[in-house]
Amino acid sequence: MKTSLHVDLGERSYNILIGEGLIGKAGTLLAPILKRPRVIVITDENVAKLHLVPLVNSLNACEIKNQTIILSEGEQTKSFAELEKLLDTLLESAPDRNTTLIALGGGVIGDITGFAASIILRGIDFIQIPTTLLAQVDSSVGGKTGVNTRQGKNLIGSFYQPKLVIADTSALLTLPKRELLSGYAEAVKYGVINDYPFFVWLEEHGARAIEGDMDALAHIILESCKTKAEIVGHDERESGLRAILNFGHTLGHALELETGYSKTLLHGESIAIGMLLALHLSVTRGLCDMEDYERVRLHFSKVGLPTSPRDVAEKWSASRLIQHCYKDKKAQDGGLTFVLAKGIGKTIISHDVTRQELETLLAETL
Ligand code: NAD
Ligand code: GLY
Repeated sequence: MKTSLHVDLGERSYNILIGEGLIGKAGTLLAPILKRPRVIVITDENVAKLHLVPLVNSLNACEIKNQTIILSEGEQTKSFAELEKLLDTLLESAPDRNTTLIALGGGVIGDITGFAASIILRGIDFIQIPTTLLAQVDSSVGGKTGVNTRQGKNLIGSFYQPKLVIADTSALLTLPKRELLSGYAEAVKYGVINDYPFFVWLEEHGARAIEGDMDALAHIILESCKTKAEIVGHDERESGLRAILNFGHTLGHALELETGYSKTLLHGESIAIGMLLALHLSVTRGLCDMEDYERVRLHFSKVGLPTSPRDVAEKWSASRLIQHCYKDKKAQDGGLTFVLAKGIGKTIISHDVTRQELETLLAETL
């Protein structure tokens, strides 16, 4: 069974296909949208071992010429240095404007491949085949691409939409539980920002998904992608509404930068902590009840996600974290843009969070 969603962006519109075993059918699914039957698959060393063979077999079965480039796994791969190496290898393979790139992997592979596709030969097509829960609920949809720099996360990149997203839920069977949980945090985000019934569903059924129940996982991916597709359809380039998708990200990204984009803190884990810090700030501002904060904290804690920076490290530098927040992409005229919650299911975008408020928040939570 396969479900299909549409991301409505005029001439940049595309479909998201969700279902079991889709990697093995990828050749048939993507053949109709290729300009020419030639693709270059970009993946990482872990995913290559687990999911590359069925993809290549299905491409061969459809007579789609293909090559593969295998990158190192992990967040460190999303760097300028790795991008340069990737572009170099791609150019050695002599792609032309009708060649299509395929990102087979998690958010790291999706983000760097999408960025490479957006700049090579001034832009060629690319397709997302996300293999982590995080990539299936979030990063493969919406066209944000890029790399990290020493100044912060995703500060170099482009908005560049894929031509198709193929989310094969079976790929999640090989995903380590910690990675599954990291993606789960981004799914909870959709509940907290604008879908209270989904948050309630996650409270009741989320644990089942984390144990590997395929129907529950498919439901989570579908509901998450519905919300993301709708928001991106209204505000592709984040001139307003789309910023709510960054709930928990200002401090979350600061925590990630402080831990050197390492396995100390996975992306979704940092966002879980960042969401709770944003909720804490929302409570202090009188926007949100303490019970709402507690409810989200309890849910994260029940499923096994970190709930405080202290769960990750004993010592943090508040001043450095605050400095990172001011380098966030959403900062405007030197001031912070912060997504805050008005209870569970409703968010607002604030431009007046002060340094003093952040100092107080971090003094209470670090
Ligand atoms: P990731 O790509 O590093 O994947 C996590 C780990 O899982 C890696 O070790 C990978 O090799 C492994 N893996 C992937 N699929 C697997 C599978 N099926 N079985 C076993 N192992 C598998 O990380 P991620 O969590 O997928 O993505 C995080 C990145 O996504 C961050 O860089 C973040 O900034 C970015 N992101 C981007 C957007 C966007 O809109 N573009 C949104 C959210 C996050
Ligand atoms: N993950 C945030 C966005 O896509 O806008």
